[in-house]
Amino acid sequence: MLIPVLLAGGLGTRLWPASRSSRPKQFLSLIDTEKSLLVETLDRLASLDELGPVMAVGSEAHRFMIAEQMQQAGHTGPIILEPAPRGTAAAAAAAARLALEQYGEDAELLLLPTDHAVADNQAFVAALASARHATRHGQLALFGVSPDRPETGYGYIRAGERQADGLRHVDAFVEKPGAEQARALANAPDHFWNSGMFVFRARDYLTLLGAYAPDIDAGVAQAFAGSTRDIDFVRLAAEPFEALAADSIDYAVMERTDRAVMVELATAWSDLGSWSAVARARGYDEQGNTTIGDCWLEATRDTVAYSESRLVVTLGIDNQVVVETADAVLVADRSREQDIKQLVARLEAAG
Ligand code: GDD
Ligand code: MG
Repeated sequence: MLIPVLLAGGLGTRLWPASRSSRPKQFLSLIDTEKSLLVETLDRLASLDELGPVMAVGSEAHRFMIAEQMQQAGHTGPIILEPAPRGTAAAAAAAARLALEQYGEDAELLLLPTDHAVADNQAFVAALASARHATRHGQLALFGVSPDRPETGYGYIRAGERQADGLRHVDAFVEKPGAEQARALANAPDHFWNSGMFVFRARDYLTLLGAYAPDIDAGVAQAFAGSTRDIDFVRLAAEPFEALAADSIDYAVMERTDRAVMVELATAWSDLGSWSAVARARGYDEQGNTTIGDCWLEATRDTVAYSESRLVVTLGIDNQVVVETADAVLVADRSREQDIKQLVARLEAAG
């Protein structure tokens, strides 16, 4: 049985102040005006058959938003709650343990980040069908996207020969390269972005995690054994979980295993990690601007404007990001958008 697992515990700080710790980007409607990114992720599953129940893993603080948005898309959970975020390696391990407990040894997971835009859903459905061939042989499948620019926020894959079933061995995996390496990888043949979506048998993932990151595996096992349950939520035990070192599935497992295979996701795809990524996914007007909400841009070029509660007006500016919310407004030069994350950390430290 294939269990989709929503990874919903990220903070999305580069989209501050629209994305806040009280309401991170996955819960916001950034592309479709009616639907949050999490709901859009669930909608992409609608045309798939033979899916098991959808699980989500996220923070205690967001439990009602997760439950409510899942319901909006026709799903009820279970929802695993982390006492504190410890990265995707631990989140996936908790989901794997719950899947084995509830659905048995054959349980397979489809790990889904909740911050993506996928242009053509049929391409995703086709890629998923190929990916499922891999899990039968104990392999871990990931979805690769052909790069169209050097991007330092993604992992890169060097893919081997295409096999008859459409899968390609992952010959090398480089998580988040520096600018120079990203430029080389974006133009190199047989190189793809890692989309961050994975398909594997729950048991195979835990076996590899046990081999490469035994502390995370053991800590999650303990937190899961000590978990408390109610109808909607599985709460992981705080002490062993909080003691974990944070790590991502990419660094903890994917960079190290030779059991990874790639299937190509042949469509425009992006992780909505920055305002420019949101703009690229939404499209531009003739002046190169992207507006979200109630905005009026005059003599303005290459600017992203976002309004949540008031009219946003610009005059005679270029290359800016303007983000309005009820209690905070950000105006930033677009070339500095990657620095918003550190800026938010400094704001938090300053109280
Ligand atoms: N439950 C839970 N707990 N979810 C988490 C946690 C956590 O501690 N940390 C992150 N997530 C969720 C995020 O909300 C997001 O949906 C997903 O897991 C991926 O995490 P990101 O933090 O957004 O990862 P990334 O974008 O930096 O990198 C990953 O994705 C890229 C593509 O989007 C990597 O897999 C890269 O290799 C990949 O290219
Ligand atoms: Mg991401």
